[in-house]
Amino acid sequence: YTPDRIRNFGIVAHVDHGKSTLADRLLELSGLVKPGERESQMLDRLQVERDRGITVKAQTVALPYKGYLLNLIDTPGHADFSAEVSRSLMVCDGILLLIAANQGVQAQTIANFWLAFDRSVQIIPVINKIDLKGVNVEKVENQLKSLFDFNPDEIQRISAKTGLNVAPILDEIIAKCPPPEADPKKPLKAIIFDSLFEHYRGAVAFVLVREGSIRRGQRIRTYHGEKEYDVVEVGIMRPDMTPVSALNAGQVGYVICNMKTTKEATVGEILHAVTTDKSLIQPFVGFKPHKPTVYAGLFPVDTSDYEDLKQAVERLSLNDPSVEIIPDSSPALGLGWRVGFLGVLHMEVFSTRLEQEYDAQVILTQPSVEYRAHIKDNETIRKKRYNGKGEIRIFNASSFPSDESDIEKFLEPMVKVRLVVPAEMMGLVNGLCSEARGERGEITSIDEERMLIIWRLPLAEVVVDFFERLKKMTSGYASFDYEPDGWKESRLIRLNIMINGKEVPEFSQIVPGVMAMARAKLLVSRLKREIPRQQFEVQIKATAGTSTKALSQTIIPPWKKDFLQLLKGNIGKGGMERLNKKLSHQKKGKAKMKMLGNVQIPKEAFYNVLKN
Ligand code: GTP
Repeated sequence: YTPDRIRNFGIVAHVDHGKSTLADRLLELSGLVKPGERESQMLDRLQVERDRGITVKAQTVALPYKGYLLNLIDTPGHADFSAEVSRSLMVCDGILLLIAANQGVQAQTIANFWLAFDRSVQIIPVINKIDLKGVNVEKVENQLKSLFDFNPDEIQRISAKTGLNVAPILDEIIAKCPPPEADPKKPLKAIIFDSLFEHYRGAVAFVLVREGSIRRGQRIRTYHGEKEYDVVEVGIMRPDMTPVSALNAGQVGYVICNMKTTKEATVGEILHAVTTDKSLIQPFVGFKPHKPTVYAGLFPVDTSDYEDLKQAVERLSLNDPSVEIIPDSSPALGLGWRVGFLGVLHMEVFSTRLEQEYDAQVILTQPSVEYRAHIKDNETIRKKRYNGKGEIRIFNASSFPSDESDIEKFLEPMVKVRLVVPAEMMGLVNGLCSEARGERGEITSIDEERMLIIWRLPLAEVVVDFFERLKKMTSGYASFDYEPDGWKESRLIRLNIMINGKEVPEFSQIVPGVMAMARAKLLVSRLKREIPRQQFEVQIKATAGTSTKALSQTIIPPWKKDFLQLLKGNIGKGGMERLNKKLSHQKKGKAKMKMLGNVQIPKEAFYNVLKN
């Protein structure tokens, strides 16, 4: 295929608008699979994708059609994965913007539109699910007109489920989507836009060849990594990996070249000919990798499972370069990691995959965010305590500056949240956002019934349970999307938990001052629930910073002294045996207790208090 016979396109849609269903229909149309041959949606391969009905890992497939090669780059549809959407857009010259007729334009439709628009990618609007009874297609057309200025004659109307009007979509792609910019005559230059890890063959890099060609046996070099490799295999996805002799300029496919980890195949990396002078290569500027925004502690439920879990975590992260894994340890929970995720959903998916694919039992602690602090402009202080740095990152209580007077200001991360809500619920939703310390942005009406509202919110408020509350409050009628939006000055507090006057470092956290009281109450009430009565009174107290004043406190009363006496007197011989058995059982159980001063705390208490 010459570049003019190639089209590289993606499908983007709000969750559930029918992306996978449409991809399946396109595969059937191209003759790659027979209708109904595979009942499950084959682009959603991973178990968790099937279970949760969402696509996590972008997959690519090459569709032969009427003498053209149409490369469909699959993109995930959830808020947390906009990183993956933008990485797919790097190699797409056009997208199908899919909108379900019954739901109309939703938050992610709008986010996806702007991602593509900003990159000058050709956008083909497609209204799906027109087979559903009672849908008002014209209403959706009006939304597309008022929000994005699409005219009715530019819009496709289909049913991905029944196949109605799907065939013309491929012709539309050939007509509207420009061919890739590619030069077959120059030496090799290919860009990596995705990767996965295979047990025996190492990293598999998905590439778009921009110049020249890449073939088996060729020696290549990476631009950023500056390493040389021998190409073991190149191929295309149809939809399974199918080796070919070469990938030519304009083509999308995969390359296997003995890369040991997906780190060597990072998104945005360039593969080039060994003969090319590096200084002549323009690195790809359009892509910025997304950084983790949400952090959580990850520990094995049983500390003896640490080694197994370590392997599982390493393998899984090979396949998911967007997670950040940092070894961590805690006196109560043992060895583990601090893990950075793109968002809360990403975190859930990662832990579900650990459980399903690796059969691992894990504890994920409540998610937190990264804060920053500006150190006062004083060379001596900066040198002495902060390695000369003017700004430090704060992940948890142990990285919190011990002397707050060193700090000029603290910063917390902000996000821009787009919400599409029914007009009559706007008051409720605005209330929720302002309660979460939000700053209101623009309000646009989508039509008479729904509004698009934009808020700037602290990420710390969003990661707790913002989206759950939003869904509940609007009975699922609100849709949302969010993206990082800089930093804001904030007052941060180190929240400590004291048990009978002794601090328990596992429970210490950094929180914005305004959230401290609620968090203190939550921790104290959970601890009261989890710590069993002792022979003496136990006092639980949450304090802020170096103050000894309680933000929240409670007392666990002691066992009554004469309790055992009472039992012995009343239960007779058989009962006594059972009691002794129970007591010796409890003694064994004590091995699982952690002593804090003279207070015994069951290990589960740590999990149950800290877990999400
Ligand atoms: P994510 O991967 O979560 O982003 O979802 P998706 O956009 O891939 O949606 P998917 O293809 O899984 O479709 C979601 C639901 O809508 C499924 O139950 C489909 O059967 C249904 N669906 C998709 N297209 C149509 C259609 O044209 N008509 C009708 N009636 N239902 C459809």
